Amino acid sequence: MVSTAIAIHQPQPVKRSDEVVIIGGGLAGLFCALKLAPKAVTVLAAAPIGRGASSAWAQAGIAAAVGPGDTIESHVNDTIIAGDGIVDEAIIRMMASEASDRIHDLLGYGVPFDRDLEGHLAVSREAAHSQSRIVRVKGDMAGRAIMEALVISVRKTPSIRVLEGYVVEDLIVEDGRVTGVIARDKAGAGEELHRITGSNVVMATGGVGHLYEVTTNPTEARGGGIGMAARAGARMADMEFVQFHPTAIDVGKDPAPLATEALRGHGATLHNRAGERFMLALHKDAELAPRDVVARGIFAEVKAGRGAFLDCRAAVPDFASEFPTVFGYCQEAGIDPAREMIPVVPAAHYFMGGIWTDADGRSSLPGFWACGECTSTGAHGANRLASNSLLEAVVFSARIAEALKAEIEPDAPQGWQDGSVTSTEYLVEKDHPNMALLRQVMSANFGVLRDGDGMRPALGTILRLARDSHSMRFDNVVTTAKLIAVCALNRTESRGGHFRTDFPAEDAAWKRRTLLTLEQAHAIIPDLMEF
Ligand code: SIN
Repeated sequence: MVSTAIAIHQPQPVKRSDEVVIIGGGLAGLFCALKLAPKAVTVLAAAPIGRGASSAWAQAGIAAAVGPGDTIESHVNDTIIAGDGIVDEAIIRMMASEASDRIHDLLGYGVPFDRDLEGHLAVSREAAHSQSRIVRVKGDMAGRAIMEALVISVRKTPSIRVLEGYVVEDLIVEDGRVTGVIARDKAGAGEELHRITGSNVVMATGGVGHLYEVTTNPTEARGGGIGMAARAGARMADMEFVQFHPTAIDVGKDPAPLATEALRGHGATLHNRAGERFMLALHKDAELAPRDVVARGIFAEVKAGRGAFLDCRAAVPDFASEFPTVFGYCQEAGIDPAREMIPVVPAAHYFMGGIWTDADGRSSLPGFWACGECTSTGAHGANRLASNSLLEAVVFSARIAEALKAEIEPDAPQGWQDGSVTSTEYLVEKDHPNMALLRQVMSANFGVLRDGDGMRPALGTILRLARDSHSMRFDNVVTTAKLIAVCALNRTESRGGHFRTDFPAEDAAWKRRTLLTLEQAHAIIPDLMEF
């Protein structure tokens, strides 16, 4: 938390402090800001809004039971099965029930979802969904289209002040209540720290993919917001559960381009270099098995030197028009998916853990709310069902707005938006050597497969990196890594995205979520290290 001794400056003009401060310019943050209108909101974004956000890179779309023959109950059941025993049923039922209304909100903000010939929303299929229920845009362009529409709406909404290029480094906590944030401008390179206060703070900073060497997430998704919340004392949940997407395109890029699961939903198959369709032997649903199962299947082939390849040749004859984003990635890498198979590898993709919230997005700290990937609401359990992430972001950010609107009195004053700071500059932060080492340690020991003998010394390295931290931003990031490590060592079983080769079976005694604060995590470290 912030020390009051540092030089702190106030961005101008700040007219009053009953605004809501939202940290993050991705889907959850912008949707929350829009739903809060006409209440005064300040959105702080490290990059120009919509950029540097994982949501803008989402290819498939939003899961919603709106297709013919589909039901909310079926969506709930599929999510519970994928989540491997620890999904909060009340939360997912609420989320699935509100999906249709949120899709209509997005249509209202101008998102051009695909329609069928009769004008109904078109839906496609993804792994572990028993029905076609992914609402999409031009095949694989949902994330980009959603973010473009929201950015336009935000810029037109007078109650939303946007401060672009502001990197939040800490939360201000006064008498136990979160009352604001400390941020650095110029995309984090600014010399001055700014103090921005509000009646409530909403964290919407995304996930943790960049803690790993192979990830589909933007560089910004390194868990900084989650660690900041933990340092301020917020309760965390399910920090051991990281989801690895089975099919990142293996062309040595950081971040790794994604080959959407919808390709497998269209019938694309997985093969090793010998041409074997290896998923047939691993699960009855083969390529459409839950994501963790497919990721482990591919990981085993890659580790054994046999490689893994996605064959779309028969299943997707019109690749360029059906999956333009993936087609573009393949072209850049010199791969023609109509004639060749695509080399794939599992990549850190989504974090099921994060800041614990209740059904309205309230954290355990007064005045502090959270939505989107930085949270753990209980909706995903141990393994998220594809395309439930954008749904969770819009459902919870709308619920936060609803709850806050009931408690905030006046609307935004005239001219509120004039205080915006816009920036078109998109600076991608280069990894400090400590960050590079952290990514290496996380990948080697807290990835698709884990075991105690690897994790214990790795936690030791993380503790040393935390002790010798070079900046407040790294304090936040390494705190998140530490919590992942502690919770992964602590859960002595395998479940969903958390697979331990030393405890390969599920254990009924562990059929529960992990809930803890940073202080509680620190208290169990000595026992974990000694095991
Ligand atoms: C994908 O398109 O495969 C990713 C969808 C998701 O992660 O929900």
